[in-house]
Amino acid sequence: MGAKVISVITQKGGVGKTTTVNALASCYHRKKYRVLGIDMDSQGNLSFSAGADNENNATIYDVMKGSVKPSFAVQHRDMCDIIPANIVLSSIELEYTGANREYLLRNAVTQLRDLYDYIFIDAPPGLGMLTVNSLTASDYVIIPMLPDIFSLQGLALVHETIEHIKKNLNPRLQIAGIMINKFNARSRLGNEIIGTAEMISENLGIPIFDTKIRNSIALSEAQSLQYDCTKYSRYATGVKDYMSLCEELIAKNI
Ligand SMILES: Nc1ncnc2c1ncn2[C@@H]1O[C@H](COP(=O)(O)OP(=O)(O)O)[C@@H](O)[C@H]1O
Ligand SMILES: [Mg+2]
Repeated sequence: MGAKVISVITQKGGVGKTTTVNALASCYHRKKYRVLGIDMDSQGNLSFSAGADNENNATIYDVMKGSVKPSFAVQHRDMCDIIPANIVLSSIELEYTGANREYLLRNAVTQLRDLYDYIFIDAPPGLGMLTVNSLTASDYVIIPMLPDIFSLQGLALVHETIEHIKKNLNPRLQIAGIMINKFNARSRLGNEIIGTAEMISENLGIPIFDTKIRNSIALSEAQSLQYDCTKYSRYATGVKDYMSLCEELIAKNI
């Protein structure tokens, strides 16, 4: 069976997809699991934050095109292993228009499963081909959302996309849960939105994680300094929250 493959998806940008992959990868790695992060965003944010070289080395683009073996593109970093991405990845959508374009990443991931316990995929914003590839390659998906109205409005569309992939491309895909990010217990509006999100999630049959991730400057600091957040500041609220989320996932057998 090999690695559990988990992608972090939502169409909205700036909600914490990359932060979540970065932090969860660090938390699982700290627990001595073998972890790989795959950067599927042409902005290369995960690559940067993990200190991977995305200029002079093979990237996920080369892997998806089949011009290098997946293991050749892996870089061993402090935080976890990484397959980086750069801006070239954005052209793949135009290069592949035929059948099987949804399976490019899955074919690569299949060859890596035996080497890891967890593979995290950092998806780009939007629900285009790269996101579809991420979902097709995954066993689980985590949906981060901010406690704001736009995130709430986006939930139904993400859910629809995931159901579509499940039905047509990847029946084993499961939604691990919705993750509330930048949570502030004292915000009345935030709490109202979370209340509505709970109703929606109940209707759609997707759980919201018990663990909510609080606003925590240490998370963005660690990313800009290219540090493993669990080493940078293991007692910062955000890092503790991600550690709790990691434990919640493990308790759910993920
Ligand atoms: N819980 C948090 N506390 C503080 N800053 C956060 C938190 N989550 C994300 N950020 C910051 O918000 C910005 C957007 O997050 P990011 O993970 O890049 O979003 P996405 O990948 O969805 O576009 C980044 O600067 C990141 O460091
Ligand atoms: Mg990102």
